[in-house]
Amino acid sequence: MSLHLLHSFAKVELLGAPTPLEHLPRLSDYLGRDIFIKRDDLTPVAFGGNKLRKLEFLAADALRQGADVLLTAGAIQSNHVRQTAAVAAKLGLKCVALLENPLATAADNYLTNGNRLLLDLLDAEVIMVDALHAPDAQLEEQASRLEAQGFRPYIVPVGGSNALGALGYVECAQEIAHQSEGVVDFAAVVVASGSAGTHAGLAVGLEQLLPDTELVGVTVSRSVADQQPKVVAIQQALAASLALTTAAPVTLWDDYYAPQYGMPNEEGMEAIKLLARLEGIFLDPVYSGKAMAGLLDGITQKRFRRDGPIAFIHTGGAPALFAYHHSV
Ligand SMILES: Cc1ncc(COP(=O)(O)O)c(C=O)c1O
Repeated sequence: MSLHLLHSFAKVELLGAPTPLEHLPRLSDYLGRDIFIKRDDLTPVAFGGNKLRKLEFLAADALRQGADVLLTAGAIQSNHVRQTAAVAAKLGLKCVALLENPLATAADNYLTNGNRLLLDLLDAEVIMVDALHAPDAQLEEQASRLEAQGFRPYIVPVGGSNALGALGYVECAQEIAHQSEGVVDFAAVVVASGSAGTHAGLAVGLEQLLPDTELVGVTVSRSVADQQPKVVAIQQALAASLALTTAAPVTLWDDYYAPQYGMPNEEGMEAIKLLARLEGIFLDPVYSGKAMAGLLDGITQKRFRRDGPIAFIHTGGAPALFAYHHSV
């Protein structure tokens, strides 16, 4: 198998088992098209989400380097930071997080509830910054500060998105290929595309395993022109690390994230209600709600390349619902 090098990367086992791939019968009836959902919101640590797949590889690298701190960055309501802090706790490491307020909001729920509340329970050290204008440099600066204090920090990039972390989504593509084999032929897979590691990992994995399935990334923070190079950079580096070449075109839809990253919109909130009311599944206002809005509109507008079943990657994020409750 062409993905054989995957097994040469060390991994801390956090998932334990594949996440479920479920048919959504009531949503499928409602839409007149078969929709499946990959339940990466159900990964087992700290309310789940997509970052745990990346952290399996990143945490193993941190341990290999003898790190005693996981240092990362994100928005106040970052799911990535919550999952990183939980993995640090589980491994007996300290977690330090640089947080920004991308909405410049003073809403109490945003500042203290949801993921932010969980960070305190996990005992992460939070450092507020005005903006993550140059996150890599800002993380390096904090790493130097921690080193001066005698710590051995390991930098987990924003969103866990580099070639190493994205290996987790090559594995997700493997799971989808196994779980769908002989059962369903997916016309398309739809995923939220943010820091881009999830999208890039699926792109490399699906190109090898399900080349006739279209992968659509729904952007949550950027235009296609700005997001495309981010996905491609990780896709290329990831493929190279697996001794593969990749020629998969990157498909991005950027019509669903307005007005900006982290700010809910009506289509996203309607998608959240639809999934809750038809299937009892909670999406989130920042990522998966907007990605589902893209899937729904993509069907209406006939944007998918071919007919047939669609798989939606549920990347998690529901803890943020409590921070945004005034918008629902
Ligand atoms: C719930 C959720 N979905 C999707 C994403 C986007 O994944 P990526 O950053 O790998 O593009 C994130 C990233 O933080 C997330 O928290």
